[in-house]
Amino acid sequence: MKVTLPASNDCPVLSQLIEKVGVNVHYECKHGVCGACRCKITAGFVFYEQPPLAYLRKDEILPCIAKTTSAITLEI
Ligand code: FES
Repeated sequence: MKVTLPASNDCPVLSQLIEKVGVNVHYECKHGVCGACRCKITAGFVFYEQPPLAYLRKDEILPCIAKTTSAITLEI
């Protein structure tokens, strides 16, 4: 399923997905450590206030700690 979110640098992507879009994303730590929330980004850019500790491929993000700098599209 593809989901597009608007830019919002004050709210982590995970919160936007769950609270604003109503998409149920699996997560555990919510601190960028476990990688459980990992998902694929197909458009747009995100940033992290602290570097993620979980391994990420080039096209993956951790929505629990990622914030957007532009509109983004995710595959969930
Ligand atoms: S929930 Fe653990 S890295 Fe996102």
